[in-house]
Amino acid sequence: MATEIKTTKVTFIEDGPIMIEGPVTMEGQYGNKATEMKTIYLCRCGGSSNKPFCDGTHKKIDFKG
Ligand code: FES
Repeated sequence: MATEIKTTKVTFIEDGPIMIEGPVTMEGQYGNKATEMKTIYLCRCGGSSNKPFCDGTHKKIDFKG
């Protein structure tokens, strides 16, 4: 039986966050790591209160990009 290899897909959403369909491992500045198998959304507008993740603020500030 063949093992399915999951690949990571990165999509820049117009006027919104970066969508990363995992698996993805993030490493912080102090070496802390977190691995997610699911989809995550990273803030691209700079306005999120939950950085590096998107919290929807891009809609409130009418981010374009
Ligand atoms: S991209 Fe969504 S809060 Fe910044």
